Amino acid sequence: MSADPEVVRAWVEGWALSRQVPAPVATGQGWRVDVGLPEHRVRYVFADLDLAAVRKLAESLEPPGAFIKACVGSEQLAASLPASWGLEPLHYMMTAELGREGPKPPETPKGYELTLDRQGQVIVAALRDTSGEIAASGRIALAGSSGIVDQVVTHIDHRRRGLGRVIMQGLERAAARSGATTAILVATDDGKALYSALGWDLHAPLATAAIRAGST
Ligand SMILES: CC(C)(COP(=O)(O)OP(=O)(O)OC[C@H]1O[C@@H](n2cnc3c(N)ncnc32)[C@H](O)[C@@H]1OP(=O)(O)O)[C@@H](O)C(=O)NCCC(=O)NCCS
Repeated sequence: MSADPEVVRAWVEGWALSRQVPAPVATGQGWRVDVGLPEHRVRYVFADLDLAAVRKLAESLEPPGAFIKACVGSEQLAASLPASWGLEPLHYMMTAELGREGPKPPETPKGYELTLDRQGQVIVAALRDTSGEIAASGRIALAGSSGIVDQVVTHIDHRRRGLGRVIMQGLERAAARSGATTAILVATDDGKALYSALGWDLHAPLATAAIRAGST
């Protein structure tokens, strides 16, 4: 299963918008994002894997906070890296077609209130319970004709009550009505179960490796 570089490019662009970090820089074979946090300084993202090029890159990077992500299985990425790098859990790039209007308006479960707040190119969804606490939230960044979903989470005390579904339907509908035709995200295992139930398609695996602290 090989990834479409255009889908990966849109995801990297939307992720940077969502996290309010500098726009991705094309490196020829992939993209670099200068995230700038102590624990997450820089990330390189590849749609495909050129083993020799990725190994050379990995050997040139210094700890801490350097990540390499590629749309391949974890073993494939590990095979291209020096021992100073460790694997993170495998994630999944997924896509959905939004259509003109997106899904129908979500039916918010009793006792919760949905808000959708546009902040520049990012739409933020939140579901609050009757005490005003946030029970679930998520965001979607608008990058060209793509909407990139990010940071979807339901508080552990509120899971499996349909809140993740409402957040997703709210975000997809808002993005479609703002002109997005395709939605893209990278899912955890929990997220993959939710998005599959909502009709999203698996696009490609996304393996991640991080340089170990203390390695040179
Ligand atoms: C993923 C997550 C947001 C799901 O939120 P949620 O509010 O529990 O999801 P919903 O109740 O709306 O689930 C709707 C449907 O999705 C599927 N689903 C959701 N979570 C699932 C899980 N952990 N395992 C299996 N199916 C799941 C089910 O079909 C579910 O319907 P059902 O409960 O009637 O069976 C939540 O588990 C979470 O916050 N996880 C930790 C953070 C995370 O991984 N976020 C995703 C980042 S990509």
